[in-house]
Amino acid sequence: MVSHEGIVTSKTNLINKGIKTMRKQIAAANWKMNLTYQEGEKLLDEILSAAVHMADHQHTVFAVPYPYLLMTRSEVEEDNTNYYVAAQNCHHKKSGAYTGEVSVGMLHSMNIKYCVIGHSERREYFAETNAMLAEKVDLCLESYITPIFCCGEPLSVREAGTQNEFVAAQLKESLFHLPAEKIETLVIAYEPIWAIGTGKTASTEQAQEMHQYLRSVLADQYGQEVANKIPILYGGSVKAANAPELFRSPDVDGGLVGGASLVASEFIAIMKALK
Ligand code: 13P
Repeated sequence: MVSHEGIVTSKTNLINKGIKTMRKQIAAANWKMNLTYQEGEKLLDEILSAAVHMADHQHTVFAVPYPYLLMTRSEVEEDNTNYYVAAQNCHHKKSGAYTGEVSVGMLHSMNIKYCVIGHSERREYFAETNAMLAEKVDLCLESYITPIFCCGEPLSVREAGTQNEFVAAQLKESLFHLPAEKIETLVIAYEPIWAIGTGKTASTEQAQEMHQYLRSVLADQYGQEVANKIPILYGGSVKAANAPELFRSPDVDGGLVGGASLVASEFIAIMKALK
């Protein structure tokens, strides 16, 4: 449990230690397998017409289905600073006879800057393993694509109280082969599976507690300075109503948003809730 007082103290400590607290803050939309092309265009138009200003340390990211990547890129990157497009996945091999798959090289050739890696739906329905995700992360980094690496525990693990060990193992097995100068360019998204699409958000305390823990795991491996640079987003029933409180937590650096990213007014409010 982290009290409000705890949050204030933690922020103050960072400032006292002279640690740069301005790490990247991100509002990321994950459309998943939703919307037709025309519906996607309309949604983007509505969101972009709000012209929400992103400060230097803030990014808005739209993770859209592969066939919409170029349309989205030209819409959002045209007049908007710090708006980016993400793929929702990539294949773990460089190229070859993998019918229907999309390689990191293809994304790179389309100037895509972010890629969601290891979403729990991919882990669950497409049997993606931590080892496979390590390969994806490496390929993305080679192509200067920022992985948004997802981790998070199922309900059974949360109920057993072993969520910390579970999520730390996901990080270790997919990321800890990276040198510090690479891992510090990553974005991590903590998405407890029991909160995805269920309307049941983790409480601000639960989110902060896990994010703080993940940062401590990163600090143990790479040092506090590196850990402090890595944005950790929260995902799982983020909406306009809970985003401001979630994002106020010192270790919550924005959100990865499913359902609410499909509603213009909701996502606009979430973008505005960035610190
Ligand atoms: P919801 O926001 O619909 O719970 O989805 C979260 C998610 O999986 C984002 O990647």
